[in-house]
Amino acid sequence: MQMFKEQIAQTLAPLIDWEPERVAAALELPPNPELGDLAFPCFQLAPQLRKAPPAIAADLAERYQLPAAVAKVQVVGSYLNFFLHPQVIAKQVLEAILAAGNTYGNSQQGAGKTIVVDFSSPNIAKPFGVGHMPTTVLGNSISKLYQALGYNVVRVNHLGDWGTQFGAMMVAYLKWGDNDPLTEDPIGKLYRLYVKFHKEEEAEPTLRDEARAWFNRLEAGEEEATRLWRLFYDVSLENFKRTYRRLGIEFDHYTGESFYIDKIDATLARIKAAGVTEISDGALVVSLGDDLPPCLLQKSDGATLYATRDLAALFYREETFNPERIIYVVALDQSLHFQQLKLVLKRMGLPLAAAVVHVAFGLVKLPEGKMSTRRGQMVLLDDVLQEATARVATIIAEKNPELPNKEQVAEQVGIGAVIFHNLKNSRMRDIIFDWSEVLSFEGETGPYLQYTHARCMSVLRKSGQQQFAPPQDLAGLADESAQQVLKRLSQFPETITKAAETYEPSTMSRYLLDLAQDFNRFYNSCRIIGEDAAIEASRLALVNGVAMVLRRGLSLLGLTAPEQM
Ligand code: ARG
Repeated sequence: MQMFKEQIAQTLAPLIDWEPERVAAALELPPNPELGDLAFPCFQLAPQLRKAPPAIAADLAERYQLPAAVAKVQVVGSYLNFFLHPQVIAKQVLEAILAAGNTYGNSQQGAGKTIVVDFSSPNIAKPFGVGHMPTTVLGNSISKLYQALGYNVVRVNHLGDWGTQFGAMMVAYLKWGDNDPLTEDPIGKLYRLYVKFHKEEEAEPTLRDEARAWFNRLEAGEEEATRLWRLFYDVSLENFKRTYRRLGIEFDHYTGESFYIDKIDATLARIKAAGVTEISDGALVVSLGDDLPPCLLQKSDGATLYATRDLAALFYREETFNPERIIYVVALDQSLHFQQLKLVLKRMGLPLAAAVVHVAFGLVKLPEGKMSTRRGQMVLLDDVLQEATARVATIIAEKNPELPNKEQVAEQVGIGAVIFHNLKNSRMRDIIFDWSEVLSFEGETGPYLQYTHARCMSVLRKSGQQQFAPPQDLAGLADESAQQVLKRLSQFPETITKAAETYEPSTMSRYLLDLAQDFNRFYNSCRIIGEDAAIEASRLALVNGVAMVLRRGLSLLGLTAPEQM
C-alpha cells in the first residue's frame, strides 16, 4: 500500500498543511473491506483545526480532489476512508513487482547508516544446541530485513570462546580425554567431557578449583593452556561453520570474546578514567544505583568477566563501524546483563548507550520441558536439521518419488521447516518443538509456504510462457479473490519496514501465511490456464507476482523456495 499511501498523501497534504510524509505515515489499513483500502484518522487534526474530528472528515471529503488511483472517499465517524480503483491497484502493483524483481519492497531509508547485528554466538566447548536456534535465525532474518531497507549491516558472531568453562574443559580433557586429537566427532566428545565434568564436580568440588586455576593459566597466556584452548576453538568453530553453511547463514566477523582480551586494559583504563568505578571486596565494579546490581568488571584475582569483554566489544565496534545501532539478539535471561551494559555507558556519559538494543526471545522447549546442557539432555541443532531433512525425504519418497533433485529439495524443505518454526510466532513466545507441527504441509508452516510457491511455479510452467508482463486488460482480475491477493501484494513493502522496526520477523511470517491463503482462495475460485487469452495473461501475471513475493519473503526469513516439490 506504500505507493498508494504516497499518492494519497501528495493530494491530501496541501489541504491540511502537513508534510506528505507525515500524512503517509498516518494512513491506516481499515479493519475490513467495507471501510475501504486506506483510512485517514482525523483525530490528529482536531487540535490544529479546533473542530470535532467527524466534522473535519466531512469537510475534507468535500474538498478532496480524487487522484487517479482513488475511486471514491467516504466518511465513517472520524475517519476519511479511501477506496482505490481495482484496475489501478492491479496495474500498479504488478508493474512495481515486475520492475523491481528481487528488490521489490526495498527502500533507501537506511542509506549511509550502519547497524551491527550480534547474533547466534554459541559457546565453544559447549555444543550448539537448539537453544541457540532462535538467535541464529532471528539474527539472520533481522540482518536481511535491515539490508532491504538500505542499511549497511555488519553481522557479528560474538563466540563464547573465553571464560571459566574452558578451565573445566581442560581439566576434563586432561583427566578423561586420552589425549584425543579430536579429529572425529569433536563436538560429541567435547560435549561428553563437559557433561562428565559437571557430574563429577558435584561429588568432588575441588575440580572446580582446578578448573579456575586452568582458566587463570589461560588468561596468563601459558603455553599448555593456550594449546588446549586452540584445539577446542578450532574444532568447534569448524563444526559451527558447517552448520551455518547448511542453514545458509553467513557472518562478516567471527570475533568472539577472546578477540577482546588484548583490549581489556584499555577498556578498564577508559572506564576508570570516566570516574565511575569503585573497589568492592577487592573487585573492580561500577555501581548502578538501587535498582540494579553493580556491574562487575574484574575479580579480585584479576580475572575478567563476560561484561568486561562486552564493554571492550562495544568500544571496538563503535570505533570500527560507527554504527547507528548495535542489535543484540540474545535470550531474555540476559536482559539484566544488557541493562547493566547500557547503564555503565550512560554513567560514563556516552551517547553509545542509546545505540544498544537487546532483542530478546523466549525459550526452546521440547514437549517434555526445558533442556539443560549440563545434565546432558541437550538436543543438538545438527541432529534436529538431520532429522528434519530425513523426515522430509521419507515424505517425498512416498508422495512424489519422481521429483527431480529429491535430495536437494528434502534439504531445502527440512531446514526451511525448522527455520520457519522458530520465526512463526512473536519472538517472546516459547518455542515448543513438536515434529508433526514443524513439518506439516498444511498448517502454518514453512513447507506450506514453499508448497504454495511451487504450486505457482507449476502453473507458470504449464502455461508454456517465459515472460509475464503486467496485463493491459484487467478483466481477469476483477474477482474479489484476485483483488484480495493484489492488495496483499501491495502491502509487502511496509511489511518489511514493520518487521525490521519491531525486530519481529514473525510479522513477515504472518504476512506470507496470509498471502498464501489469499492465493489459494484465488486459485480455487478462478481458472487460470485455458481461459480466454487476455484473462489468462492477467491471471498468470498475478501468479507470477505471488511467486516472486513468496520467494523474496521466504528469503528474508532465511528460507529457500524450491521450484518443484
Ligand atoms: N555466548 C552467549 C550465550 O550463548 C551469547 C553472547 C551474546 N552476545 C554478546 N555480545 N554478549 O549465551
